[in-house]
Amino acid sequence: MNALSEEHSPSVGPVGPAGRVGPVPVSRRARAVTPASALDHLWLHFTDHSAYADGDGPPVIVSGEGARIRDSKGRTYLDALSGLFVVQAGYGRPELARAAAAQAEELAYFPLWSHAHPRAVELAERLTDHTPAGLNRVFFTTGGGEAVESAWKLAKQYWKLLGRPGKHKVLARAIAYHGTTQGALAITGIPALKQMFEPLVPGAFHVPNTNIYRAAENLRDDPTAFGVWAADRIEEAIQFEGPDSVAAVFLEPVQNAGGCFPAPPGYFERVRAICDKYDVLLVSDEVICAFGRVGGIFACTEMGYVPDIITCAKGMTSGYSPIGAMITTEKLFEPFRTGHEMFAHGYTFGGHPVSAAVALANLDLFEREGLVDHVRKHAPDFRATLERLLDLPVVGDVRGEGFFYGIELVKDKTTRESFSDAECERILKGFLSPALFEAGLYCRADDRGDPVIQLAPPLIVGQAEFDEMESTLRSVLSQVPDML
Ligand SMILES: Cc1ncc(COP(=O)(O)O)c(C=O)c1O
Repeated sequence: MNALSEEHSPSVGPVGPAGRVGPVPVSRRARAVTPASALDHLWLHFTDHSAYADGDGPPVIVSGEGARIRDSKGRTYLDALSGLFVVQAGYGRPELARAAAAQAEELAYFPLWSHAHPRAVELAERLTDHTPAGLNRVFFTTGGGEAVESAWKLAKQYWKLLGRPGKHKVLARAIAYHGTTQGALAITGIPALKQMFEPLVPGAFHVPNTNIYRAAENLRDDPTAFGVWAADRIEEAIQFEGPDSVAAVFLEPVQNAGGCFPAPPGYFERVRAICDKYDVLLVSDEVICAFGRVGGIFACTEMGYVPDIITCAKGMTSGYSPIGAMITTEKLFEPFRTGHEMFAHGYTFGGHPVSAAVALANLDLFEREGLVDHVRKHAPDFRATLERLLDLPVVGDVRGEGFFYGIELVKDKTTRESFSDAECERILKGFLSPALFEAGLYCRADDRGDPVIQLAPPLIVGQAEFDEMESTLRSVLSQVPDML
């Protein structure tokens, strides 16, 4: 135990007359947290700690207001990633904090194991107001990976209950990220993230994604033909594996990892038809894309397709408390409603009352402020602003939907030649990420596929922030050619 822990101020306030806890001071460390002290005990996620071996520790973000975050050194940044595709409504929203506090006072916790609590009931109903017809059943989790994990388990059990026990495999797309638990990681299509943890859950297979920028030359300028080609790879994989062995296909409406690959026209329509033809469930993994990120509370509704399962999390509370969900059709629930069968699966904190209350307040906020319409209305301006960067020699492609864009960086625009691994390490990690942050922009430079910069700001931003993103990116990206 750290000696400092004895110096913590009390985390529980005085008990008031009605037996209720009074104002609750946040537990504080006696000494200020600094980038250096951040590494005393903390193990950062997806982080190469050696990057901090010689100097300062990681940035410590201490507060936020609107679309701005502030670090422990007092510097502010434009958050062009909504934390991690999470903070849709922006920082510092008292009503979301109040919803959490009020719920914690009323009922801090109760599980959804054979019991219900009011906020889970209300939130399940509220979510299904926005799902396509038929998707009426909500199974809460605490995050996105758990929702994906739940969907694969449900798909397996569903087919077993229907007398088709061989249907257990799943398909997903190359470079797609679906989470880190061993099932979700098997579904994830990024070999580098999986190698250390093999063998993973067997039965996950991958098909090409919808990256038209890297499509064969005869398809690059014909999105409809490319969509047919990409959807047909799913049919081909089902045939290769055997339709009697495939349970489900996991697809993001717009694939994040690799840098925002939108679906070509007709793609989901064709995938839906293929899934129906072979009795394969279609899972729309909307952990990023739901809650306004690409317009619409759910992206599938916005994009006009009907999955069998939606997985979602991140933006549901705008990050003020964690929650996720798997939303299924009544058809998938039917064997469990009538057949004395149990979905033997759950999470202690799934559908936590505080998170459910915050999610309800967040949906109120979405409605009152028209956030979904704001995204729909301003997405073309955001895109057009970012497309101005296409005049830079290193910007090969700008793509995405809504408030969710990827900018692919290339070494040679004419040939679309990408950077080598060593160049990625030097330019993306060694230069771009720190330089953009230093210039006041928090975003993500990612090389899980080809190198991209990803932008997904809070849904409250407008032209002033679009311009700020563009000008910061321009000034930093303009320096890349000199590094080659
Ligand atoms: C599409 C998708 N699915 C699943 C996940 C996993 O979510 P979580 O990190 O909440 O487990 C993510 C996380 O980024 C994601 O983008």
